[in-house]
Amino acid sequence: MSDIYPVNPEIAQKAHVDNEKYLEMYKQSVENPDAFWGEHGKRIDWFKPYTKVKNTSFDTHNVDIRWFEDGTTNVAHNCLDRHLETRGDQVAIIWEGDDPSESENITYKDLHERVCKLANAMKARGVTKGDRVTLYMPMIPEAAIAMLACARIGAIHSIVFGGFSPDALADRLRGCDAKCLITADEGLRGGRKVPLKANADAAMEKFDVETCIVVKRTGGNINMKDGRDVWYEDVTAATSSDCPAEELDAEHPLFILYTSGSTGQPKGVLHTTGGYLVYASMTHEYVFDYHEGDVYWCTADVGWVTGHSYIVYGPLANGATTLMFEGVPNYPSVSRFWEVCDKHKVNIFYTAPTAIRSLMREGDEPVKKCSLDSLRILGSVGEPINPEAWNWYNTVVGKGKCPIVDTWWQTETGGILITPLPGATDLKPGSATRPFFGVQPELVDNEGNPLDGATEGNLCIVDSWPGQMRTCYGDHERFIQTYFSTYPGKYFTGDGARRDEDGYYWITGRVDDVINVSGHRMGTAEVESALVAHPKVAEAAVVGAPHDLKGQGIYVYVTLNADEEPSDELKTELVKWVRHEIGPIASPDWLQWSPGLPKTRSGKIMRRILRKIAEDDFGSLGDTSTLADPSVVDELIENRQNRS
Ligand code: WTA
Repeated sequence: MSDIYPVNPEIAQKAHVDNEKYLEMYKQSVENPDAFWGEHGKRIDWFKPYTKVKNTSFDTHNVDIRWFEDGTTNVAHNCLDRHLETRGDQVAIIWEGDDPSESENITYKDLHERVCKLANAMKARGVTKGDRVTLYMPMIPEAAIAMLACARIGAIHSIVFGGFSPDALADRLRGCDAKCLITADEGLRGGRKVPLKANADAAMEKFDVETCIVVKRTGGNINMKDGRDVWYEDVTAATSSDCPAEELDAEHPLFILYTSGSTGQPKGVLHTTGGYLVYASMTHEYVFDYHEGDVYWCTADVGWVTGHSYIVYGPLANGATTLMFEGVPNYPSVSRFWEVCDKHKVNIFYTAPTAIRSLMREGDEPVKKCSLDSLRILGSVGEPINPEAWNWYNTVVGKGKCPIVDTWWQTETGGILITPLPGATDLKPGSATRPFFGVQPELVDNEGNPLDGATEGNLCIVDSWPGQMRTCYGDHERFIQTYFSTYPGKYFTGDGARRDEDGYYWITGRVDDVINVSGHRMGTAEVESALVAHPKVAEAAVVGAPHDLKGQGIYVYVTLNADEEPSDELKTELVKWVRHEIGPIASPDWLQWSPGLPKTRSGKIMRRILRKIAEDDFGSLGDTSTLADPSVVDELIENRQNRS
């Protein structure tokens, strides 16, 4: 039996829904999705109201997902204009700089004006509806402003996380045929500078854009190319702050976000306008039990989906005050998160287990010297939270009075799918608990047979919800292949899960070749192809292995060309190579020289065995008799790198 933490009655009293209401709403949402979403779709403004609500098919031959399809709206209008009358002077974004002495409050009125100016500047440079604009930005207000400016004119943004390498950026510019790139001279994180424009220059050598707009963040020395590169400050200074929001179809694309999968290069996950915003704003309100006046802080980076849905779009659509943090949890000290909570009187705090684990390691003192009295709700996202970290978060950070919402979702899902609701759900540490409205999870065995009751299996979702991705940008076939062909007729998440006797879901992690490093998704195939691109490498296999802080670390097996000798220098060089090819987040944690890899007689690498060895758990390797050369396994065990 796992521990149960009943709903805090004080929270329940003020919450949007209690358990009874949750059950009633959930029932309606799955029994009559048209009525349910027809009603809740009205939470955003529509220029032309929809008459059709749900038109979706998971049929493997014809996957087609449309929500509110005959309505028209605009995301920036919903995040800005509609608040001006009622809350124009309310703070929309609290920006907290890397250096604690820097912060800025931006009201809805200011934000609206800054978005309009940038939108006009982009239009003046020829960016129009449907064009792709790539953002490679630090966590500064201009990142949110650029997102909203794109949304305002119907341009499609594609954010590339600032930690990605020039090559990764070039691939993503090419992937969506970007017309414009918005970046900054340099980023600032933990007191260190990140050479964004220099990286962007290297990327634009490989794929050039028409316009590159550069925000001055540090004032560092950078190159500006005549005719292409312009300063944000210059192009926005002269433009008008009047820029009407484009009337867009509900299914007009809002953004592309590249994410790693089990095969090939990252896919461009495409989200659209109406359904996405309804879902992001509704989950933000209910999951965090957001109330008028709350100060809300999500510590993610806008380069990931969490930043899209729960720093920018969900909160701003709800007229919330959202905090945007440029820095890192341990700079200038390991109390930084808690100091920021006190400084800005944060009520709702949403972060990742990897951050909790690394701060937990520093003991209770750095937390206890802060008051944290303003906190009411805590959230977790990105990977399973281990009960030890959950308990620390609950008792030391939340002082036992703040419900923790462990939110399970994916880039593809647009918003949270499985989660507690603060006033409705008794908590069990480590469980994402129950589905949100409209979400129908199903566990299936490897043949796709649905499993009933308390069980464990592959996690699928059997029907659509409004925030779901619509396609892989430019490759609908890949969308179908990746998500709807493993278990035909169902959306397959790539995750495994257990369901307990109370119907609670416990996500057990990826069941495909994706690993989760500090909450960042990494495809093993991507790291492998980076490694084999090195002239001295013949073959490489990459697996995840348990890592105390990161959740999973990257374990690589490398076979060198016949005329190459392994050495420590070469090891360092290969680690650097991967960082250079993909970015620091893909740095291998362990590298093992492997003269041979375990393969079947047909030449398929047996990853199951490599995973076990990387986990230092080789007592249960299972059947190795089908291997072409079983002796390579002994050699690999002998030289394993991750010994406990
Ligand atoms: C994992 C991040 C357990 C999961 C929003 C999923 C989680 C992948 C949780 C998506 C959670 C996310 N508990 N696992 N609360 N949240 N995951 O696309 O494996 O960056 O498939 O989206 O993270 O990662 P992504």
